[in-house]
Amino acid sequence: MQIICPGCGNYTVFTPDLEMCSNCGRRFKNARGIFDFVDSSDRSDERSFYDKAYTASKKDVTTKQTVDSVWPLWESPDAPENKIVFNRLGNLKGKTVLLLGNGESVKELFFVKMSPEHLIYSDLSTHALENIRERFDLDQYHQNLSFAAIDAHTIPFPDESFDVIYGFAMVHHLPDLDLFFASVIKALKPGGFTIFMDDAYAPLWHHSKQTWLKSFMHMSHKKTGISPEDYRFSMSGGFKENDLADKIRSAGGRPWFCRTSLLTYLYYRGVRKLMPVKLSTVFYSRSLSNAIRSLDTILCRIPLLNKNQIRLIWGFSKSQG
Ligand SMILES: C[S@@+](CC[C@H](N)C(=O)[O-])C[C@H]1O[C@@H](n2cnc3c(N)ncnc32)[C@H](O)[C@@H]1O
Ligand SMILES: [Zn+2]
Repeated sequence: MQIICPGCGNYTVFTPDLEMCSNCGRRFKNARGIFDFVDSSDRSDERSFYDKAYTASKKDVTTKQTVDSVWPLWESPDAPENKIVFNRLGNLKGKTVLLLGNGESVKELFFVKMSPEHLIYSDLSTHALENIRERFDLDQYHQNLSFAAIDAHTIPFPDESFDVIYGFAMVHHLPDLDLFFASVIKALKPGGFTIFMDDAYAPLWHHSKQTWLKSFMHMSHKKTGISPEDYRFSMSGGFKENDLADKIRSAGGRPWFCRTSLLTYLYYRGVRKLMPVKLSTVFYSRSLSNAIRSLDTILCRIPLLNKNQIRLIWGFSKSQG
């Protein structure tokens, strides 16, 4: 695999030990050894929001966690979308995989156990990547796992580099979807595919946020903070399948979509925002979670509610050529 130097456009063989561009001398790694392929002026508001957020979430680590320990996250009762995403991914053995905007989400570290040829874990912010590296024991994966700051609009790898490009809760942070889709289609190998997860346009939920939940939503944004791009998306109400499909087809991809979670989403969101943490074992108990999930599935057979499911798992494939 090769990397394109953001400074001079030169192609260089990409290895975890690569330090600088042999053509222009640009250093590829920051002082903490994380690749940084983002130009400092790019997405500076969004990057500085997340740099601060991930600096604040840094923890003192005494014992590093193993990659095996993340598996239960794929089966979390509060996030049925996780399992759907995982099943959609299929076998990653021998594949080149790029994770975009992965922040400090750890469930994706499990992919390295699936023997990919190379897994690139990226985000706009280097700070997120530093946190992950500090928390996990990753020495044995040194040859096929790299951490790199990348702006998803300008993927710095040559055409046809990846079998799979993945982004969980990140595409809605991108202000230019046309540029993003063009960049992704180029970077995919023929027959390669993408998997994303974001919030869908759900009229009932959107209307509620614009009316009776409005002040509550503003309070929540004030308390926890919201990035500039997240705020823009939240006000727009979520992704509509038809809009995405048009853009994806124009870029040359074949789109697919799947929605899940209405009652489950609202229930766990309410629990997280309103209930004391010490009661979480009750609200997250297996029996209650199963009951909520089953009721959600039944309710979503009603067409009106079906169209209001909030989690959108989606993506596209690139034809074989
Ligand atoms: C809501 S967080 C999701 C993080 C992670 N995927 C997760 O599921 O927890 C959105 C992430 O997108 C990243 N992001 C925002 N703009 C980006 C861009 N232009 N390119 C790549 N990542 C970006 C942010 O740094 C942030 O980590
Ligand atoms: Zn260069």
